Amino acid sequence: MRCLPVILAAGKGTRMRSSLPKVLHPIAGKPMLQHVVDMCGQLNQDRLVVVYGHGGDQVPNALHDTDHIIHWMLQQEQLGTGHALMQALEVINDDDLVLVAYGDVPLVRTETLQALSTAAEQASLSILTTRLEQPTGYGRIVRNTDGFIESIIEEKDATDEIRCINEVNTGFMAATGSNFKRWLEQITPNNAQGEYYLTDCVALAVAEGGHVAAVVCPDPVEVQGVNNRLQQAQLERAYQLRQANALMEAGVTLMDPARIDIRGELTAGNDVTLDINIVIKGKVTLGHNVVVGPNCILENCHIADGVTIHANSIIESAEIANHCNIGPFARLRPGTILSKNARIGNFVEIKKSHIGEDSKVNHLSYIGDSQMGARVNIGAGTITCNYDGVNKHQTIIGDDVFVGSSSQLVAPVTLGNKAMIGAGSTITKDASADSLTLSRAKQLTLKGWQRPTKK
Ligand code: UD1
Ligand code: CA
Repeated sequence: MRCLPVILAAGKGTRMRSSLPKVLHPIAGKPMLQHVVDMCGQLNQDRLVVVYGHGGDQVPNALHDTDHIIHWMLQQEQLGTGHALMQALEVINDDDLVLVAYGDVPLVRTETLQALSTAAEQASLSILTTRLEQPTGYGRIVRNTDGFIESIIEEKDATDEIRCINEVNTGFMAATGSNFKRWLEQITPNNAQGEYYLTDCVALAVAEGGHVAAVVCPDPVEVQGVNNRLQQAQLERAYQLRQANALMEAGVTLMDPARIDIRGELTAGNDVTLDINIVIKGKVTLGHNVVVGPNCILENCHIADGVTIHANSIIESAEIANHCNIGPFARLRPGTILSKNARIGNFVEIKKSHIGEDSKVNHLSYIGDSQMGARVNIGAGTITCNYDGVNKHQTIIGDDVFVGSSSQLVAPVTLGNKAMIGAGSTITKDASADSLTLSRAKQLTLKGWQRPTKK
């Protein structure tokens, strides 16, 4: 039976001390609620419900829902988790298997929720529990002497004896739409917090003679909620370690699994080595035998086989072909395309440019809006002057061109094949193929010239 996930995400999250609604705070650069939505989207690709409230439209506006599968249900006032689910009843059918998830519990796995919804098929209600050494703050699972679940008691309503129970409610539960509708009608806010508790469904199911099944989650990280910045940071680390482990299992060498941050998706070929403090954003693919040095940031780029990226390089929205050599301290900005064996050295910035096969830009250069052929050598300190203050212009560089150091290429300008530019030139007109072009002022020496003296 396919389930209908209902994600509760209306709460304020006072303890974050933030103007951003809690469920929009990120783990790995992605809002917590988006993690839950993406995960629940694997259980049901057509339909899921999110109850939102605090922060208003900020929440729906911040989420990616390209296939428009989310029903957004507004909970105007936050009167408790039971009240939150009541707001969703309108779009829940009696025969839906409703799976309740929380927008501030981002690391739960699909398999765990699958197990929970399977358990609900054999029971009135299934709940996901876990055992914690420090159960403070959570609702406790009360079982009878035969081990069957009787109720959930919230911390604030609990006696000292009940507070000693270390099996806790994670908040995830599953039952049919008709069951939830019947129970929610009976829930009252007669408790320490004056709220409608969703957890009261457990005692109501038992009172009807129903069976409440429990799935005990072995990994507490999966069901840990975020209420403050400390817990957010703990889950960030747990999530990053999960990804690091998956990479190592896939054959990637990490110099230190605790010092890599993947805020997106990384796929890597065989025998890839990643040094410390690498940040991955968006979609990044690495071919075989890629080596990335320490302190690099790679965002939305494709890096082919055998590429070496040296320390402190930043690559964004770029295509890097086989066996290129980049950095240290290189910055490849959006629209950079490097052909095979290109070499980009230190303190070089490239933007919206194609660098041809075997070409080299080795030191202290800016190349923007350029098309460069093969086997070009760009001398140290060369700048393409691509911007006239209003428009951007192209620089076209043929094959086998040699540009002497500290030259300025004032675009639009074309350098023909095998052109040679003398060092220190300011090139404002096209340079012919197979010729030396230079624009240097003639050097002169004044013999016997006297230095000025203090008057
Ligand atoms: C809840 C459970 C508790 C469980 C704990 C696990 C109840 C009564 N208690 O307590 O048993 O151990 O979660 O983390 O269910 N929300 C709404 N609207 C509301 C109130 C809450 O959408 O009116 C959402 C919040 O955004 C959050 C989730 O429901 O995603 C849980 O709310 P929270 O206030 O954190 O519940 P707890 O007191 O932690
Ligand atoms: Ca909570």
